[in-house]
Amino acid sequence: MMDINDRNDSGWKNGGGQPPQSEPQRQYYYMARLRAYVEEKSLALGRPLTASIQTFGCQMNARDSEKLAGILREAGYEQIDSEEADFVLYNTCTVRENANQKVYGRLGTLNHWKKDHPHMMIALCGCMMQEPEVVEKIRKSYRFVDILFGTHNIFKLAELMVTRIEAADMVVDIWKDTDLVVEDLPNRRKYSFKSGINIMFGCNNFCSYCIVPYVRGRERSREPEDILNEIRRMAQDGVTEVMLLGQNVNSYGKTLDTPMTFAALLREIEKIDGLKRIRFMTSHPKDLSDELIEVMGSSDKICKHLHLPLQSGSTRVLKEMNRRYTKEQYLDLVERIRAGVPDISLTTDIIVGFPGETQEDFLETMDVVRKVRYDSAFTFLYSKRTGTPAASMPDQVPEDVAKERFDRLLKEVQEISRQVTARHVGTVQQVLVEEINRQDASLVTGRLSHNTVVHLPGDASMIGKILDVKLTECRGFYYLGEPV
Ligand code: 5AD
Ligand code: SF4
Repeated sequence: MMDINDRNDSGWKNGGGQPPQSEPQRQYYYMARLRAYVEEKSLALGRPLTASIQTFGCQMNARDSEKLAGILREAGYEQIDSEEADFVLYNTCTVRENANQKVYGRLGTLNHWKKDHPHMMIALCGCMMQEPEVVEKIRKSYRFVDILFGTHNIFKLAELMVTRIEAADMVVDIWKDTDLVVEDLPNRRKYSFKSGINIMFGCNNFCSYCIVPYVRGRERSREPEDILNEIRRMAQDGVTEVMLLGQNVNSYGKTLDTPMTFAALLREIEKIDGLKRIRFMTSHPKDLSDELIEVMGSSDKICKHLHLPLQSGSTRVLKEMNRRYTKEQYLDLVERIRAGVPDISLTTDIIVGFPGETQEDFLETMDVVRKVRYDSAFTFLYSKRTGTPAASMPDQVPEDVAKERFDRLLKEVQEISRQVTARHVGTVQQVLVEEINRQDASLVTGRLSHNTVVHLPGDASMIGKILDVKLTECRGFYYLGEPV
């Protein structure tokens, strides 16, 4: 097999001149050079070169992976799911410690494969790479990794790959922060009919347990016109549902030269022809405005679902978490949302075992869960993240205590979710069909505006369509339905 680092007779290196200095032109230059390289290697190997992107973590990473996939497609790689590929890229998450462990484990396996396929390239990017200790560890103990980059420069993938092919050593390019937003790069959507879209990057909230502001940098919003144009292009290309992405969408637009509220942005997006559904995440309760509730209440396109992370129901713990709302303010907000947007589905994130959490604090969380009655809730055991203020707080909760609380909370959340989800049984609702059911190929799977999953009889021709469906049976977290 050919060595990818074989630098003899590399026609792809000649010609092409100097790289442009401005973006995105510079990246198109590198994509073209990478493509020439891919063509040459494909010819030598007698098959296409393959690339595999493995995505960990949140929607933000999923969207970043679509951009990375777009660059690789432009360069001529064939994308495959299997990690037995010519280029493997891990887009990592570090929000909780177990996410990091997973990556190290899988890298070990990848190393075995690479030993038999020396031409292969391995790259790591995403949140975990923004932690200096991680980079140190990989440089020392995972020498077989070819490229490391972070969250701020994913647009540079092609340039970094060309650099690696030309260099003899690991390429490391981590930016501490950036105010750069590079527009107009290729991307490859996972679904033809729906897409995530970044409206802002980074976070300024510094919740005391959270590593995100350190790995995703300061908050910056995209220009409304760039967002609107991107969605218009998507809608013309068949996208009916968009998910607006930001760590705290409710503070959208505050840092723009001409500030604009999130609610005002939604009003503009609503006007785009062809677009049928608008979702967004995540909302911080402290910044959720009455203007937003009003826009949600009067919109035909904004979905009847709001993800509103609670984190804790104890005002004392919320203060330690630096969340900047109280239990009462949260409950009051929920009431206002329910009054303004009847029948809305609420979901949440809750952390159990935050440092200093007492039994009383935990019962406050249980109390909010019983009062709000979430459609569903993601529950997490507190995970200590080095460098965050909470990591050095006294009274870290013993594991067994936290685990016991976690189990109690999960049981409660699931029981309530079962009851709440069932409220639409017997009604006809609109379902956007997303895919063939993974267990039973005679079924298709889609979602309500409320985000609840529905399985119904159907075939591939229904994918991407919004259908009227009678919800015949609720099975806990999902429905069975019949098209009407
Ligand atoms: N430990 C446990 N859960 C965390 N989250 C963020 N940081 C931590 C942590 N250190 C959870 C929060 C957030 C979700 C994405 O992850 O609930 O809303
Ligand atoms: Fe983390 Fe809080 Fe920012 Fe969410 S709002 S990303 S929990 S710091």
